[in-house]
Amino acid sequence: MSAGTWSEPGPPEGLRGRARAWPGASRPPRAGPKLLLGPGYHGPVTPGATTIETTRLILRPFNPDDFDDLYAYQSRPDVARYLHWEARDRTQVQQALEEQCSETTLDAEGKWLTFAVVWREVHKVVGEIGLKWLSQEHRQGETGFVFNPDYQGRGLATEAAEAMLALGFGSLGWHRIVGSCDARNHASARLMERIGMRREAHLMHSEFIKGEWTDELVFAILDQEWKARLRKT
Ligand SMILES: CC(C)(COP(=O)(O)OP(=O)(O)OC[C@H]1O[C@@H](n2cnc3c(N)ncnc32)[C@H](O)[C@@H]1OP(=O)(O)O)[C@@H](O)C(=O)NCCC(=O)NCCS
Repeated sequence: MSAGTWSEPGPPEGLRGRARAWPGASRPPRAGPKLLLGPGYHGPVTPGATTIETTRLILRPFNPDDFDDLYAYQSRPDVARYLHWEARDRTQVQQALEEQCSETTLDAEGKWLTFAVVWREVHKVVGEIGLKWLSQEHRQGETGFVFNPDYQGRGLATEAAEAMLALGFGSLGWHRIVGSCDARNHASARLMERIGMRREAHLMHSEFIKGEWTDELVFAILDQEWKARLRKT
């Protein structure tokens, strides 16, 4: 996505007049897309160097110093259980880190914008989350997330995922955001439902992963549904 294609809509209806939720409203950033914020947001969003702050988290681009934190969870078989990849060794984590470090702009369909999720309380990268640009014409995107089990069960992934919806529907002006998971991945499915995504499909044996046919659940939420949820908060 070139800078010119970033949409710059006004704040969603649910945010209008809420200085707390959209502190940049009266003085938007000079460059880059406007700042559209959900609950707990505090930081600017720009296509190149994106950092988002939520109540407990800092979502920022990955950097080479994140290796140890990334290895801590990408090397775990329980983390990879329902993912397309197996638990990674050091070389594979290094390769993944280099790729994730480069995922800092959405300048073409099919690309991911990936964030390292830092929990302020421990000053560590506790997970990763991102948005994939699926279609410019249809204003569609996808979200995906992986968190370190040592920090799960606290709502951190939910908080980060809500930030992704705000980014996708706010600054990026998307109309629909989807997510999918292995049908056995109940934690992932619960997370998507928790942030208001609707379960739209159960695809039977849609993928052959790790030696077996797997079912896939597809979730989605529309911009107007997200705005309606914001109005209720
Ligand atoms: C999917 C994944 C990110 C979900 O992690 P999670 O810890 O369940 O998600 P959260 O951090 O949002 O925590 C939510 C849990 O904490 C609880 N919780 C505690 N405090 C909370 C708070 N303040 N806000 C929200 N939830 C809170 C919730 O009740 C929920 O528990 P439940 O699902 O048993 O009801 C994680 O399981 C994971 O990374 N798995 C491995 C990789 C993977 O499969 N990724 C998905 C690919 S599709």
